[in-house]
Amino acid sequence: MCGIVGYVGDRLSQDILLGGLGRLEYRGYDSAGIAVVDAEGALHHRKRAGKLQVLRDDLQAHPLADGNIGIGHTRWATHGAPNDENAHPHLADGGNLAVIHNGIIENFAELREELLDAGVELLSETDTEVAAQLIGREYARTQDLEQAFRAVVTRLEGAFTLLAVHANQPDVIVGARLNSPLVIGLGEGENFLGSDVAAFVEHTPRAIAVGQAQVVVVRKDSVEITTFDGQPAEGEAFEVDWDASAAEKGGWSSFMAKEIAEDPEAVENTIRGRIAEGTVHLPDLESLSEEYFRDIDRILLIACGTAYYSGLTGAYALEQWSRIPVSVELAHEFRYRDPVIDDRTLVVSLSQSGETMDTLMAVRYVREAGAKTISICNTQGATIPRESDAVVYTYAGPEVAVASTKAFVAQIAAIYLLGLHVAKVRGTLADEAIAEIAEEFQAIPDKLREALEEHERIATLANWMSDTRSVLFLGRHTGYPIALEGALKLKEIAYIHAEGFAAGELKHGPIALIEPGQPVFVLVPSPRHEDGLHAKIVSNIEEIRARGARVLTVAEAGDASVLPYSDEVFAMPPTSKFFEPFLRVVPLQIFALELSTAKGLDVDQPRNLAKSVTVE
Ligand code: G6P
Repeated sequence: MCGIVGYVGDRLSQDILLGGLGRLEYRGYDSAGIAVVDAEGALHHRKRAGKLQVLRDDLQAHPLADGNIGIGHTRWATHGAPNDENAHPHLADGGNLAVIHNGIIENFAELREELLDAGVELLSETDTEVAAQLIGREYARTQDLEQAFRAVVTRLEGAFTLLAVHANQPDVIVGARLNSPLVIGLGEGENFLGSDVAAFVEHTPRAIAVGQAQVVVVRKDSVEITTFDGQPAEGEAFEVDWDASAAEKGGWSSFMAKEIAEDPEAVENTIRGRIAEGTVHLPDLESLSEEYFRDIDRILLIACGTAYYSGLTGAYALEQWSRIPVSVELAHEFRYRDPVIDDRTLVVSLSQSGETMDTLMAVRYVREAGAKTISICNTQGATIPRESDAVVYTYAGPEVAVASTKAFVAQIAAIYLLGLHVAKVRGTLADEAIAEIAEEFQAIPDKLREALEEHERIATLANWMSDTRSVLFLGRHTGYPIALEGALKLKEIAYIHAEGFAAGELKHGPIALIEPGQPVFVLVPSPRHEDGLHAKIVSNIEEIRARGARVLTVAEAGDASVLPYSDEVFAMPPTSKFFEPFLRVVPLQIFALELSTAKGLDVDQPRNLAKSVTVE
């Protein structure tokens, strides 16, 4: 993961680099550093373990000479502990070359041996320093940073985005990428580089996503892109459709608090224009013919983390509406078990960032096996959508907090759009049925606003429960993956043991965990649905209640049947069966946020995690 930023222009680079790193900190935050080349052609750098603020404070106390060109890095450790030595940039060529890196160089051990045998002294345990030293040695030979890059990048295996500056070439940043993201921001008389557009969106919305296995040479008034072997190449140009203020905290206590409050807009913006006049419109899928959708016999959803739970949730409606068997797989597990796939399998990847390496590798794998892929993604210009046959973007806006919230509801909305599209093409839903679903779909943003009104009550509960060591979550049908997601949120940001179970599974084991006082969230569907699930889950509540559980119920407003067995009831507006997960997840997101806050933890940047996991 790690965040990377670069600047070349007429302005002083330091503030621009620190600003960019601030926006990329979600990618990693265990150490940070910058390198700049000054007007006299001298390279200066500073790097510090800890969050970016440690580096900021250090630079404030001991200013670094500034220049108009520089690179910056925020790290999520892979090779070597997060200390000052292992932080980036890494220097080589007598301190004249600075290199930063995102990814993992898989053959680094053998390259490291080669350098040690040649008598090179390495100061860190990182794979990055190995790359820096190799580039440094080539520079010594060629006196040209671009040539030095070309000689080295083809020797590196694994995943990398590398950026470098050299004291002797104070007008140029050279970069390269393989299996890791790199985006160029185009300014007037200045240019930027970043792991994603957040790094520079406050300066320019014009961007170019650098392609796989490409080298870039960026000066203040020019950008050159070539393949690793020097052939001219092009990246993919696009305009960023959100402005920098969307990625600001505003008056909120945390990004996560702000992003939960944006759940309604995330769904609203994702369905805008796509659900209209009582039906679904998805021009996004034009590249896949109607005939193709008629021929597929299986849909596979692949993802990791919260995106995986959105897949599990969306699969119920997708299968029901399309009448095509749907399965949901963790990308990293799926790929390594030699799965059966052919050209009638539609593979849908789900990824907020569009950069998750496990998901990307699974997408590449299935494309090689002959399947078509649709990417459901929240980040323009990211690698996964670019490598897919079609993309249905979610419009949740930039999500900064590590724990995903608004992107989750937007992903479910996008799966539903796909489900309606497939059902329409295959004729598995009548027009009237689609119109009815469309009407409820459009009502969801407002119902989410109503659901958010429970925030204060949930905060009170979380404050009261700040010493809780374990919380369980139970659900049936779509309530089951929501239970899993509720538990994941708590683990991620409140660091307490939490587990989600299918309520029907309770009697097959988990009920042994229930002891007096054990808090259990139960997701209760509407009693109006005619599937009998409400009565079943009420029985489950009675079972745990009889054993002393503290029952926290999320149910439909006015559902009196749960009151006698619940210690707390959070009332959600009525909706149809498949739309309940949008509303049921909201109190669980708020609960995790508030419990983490009550424990005094860093809500947005939980320990050991990063938002975008670009290593396998
Ligand atoms: C990481 C993050 C999770 C996220 C998952 C998938 O594990 O910490 O919040 O859900 O990656 O990320 P993606 O960008 O592919 O949705």
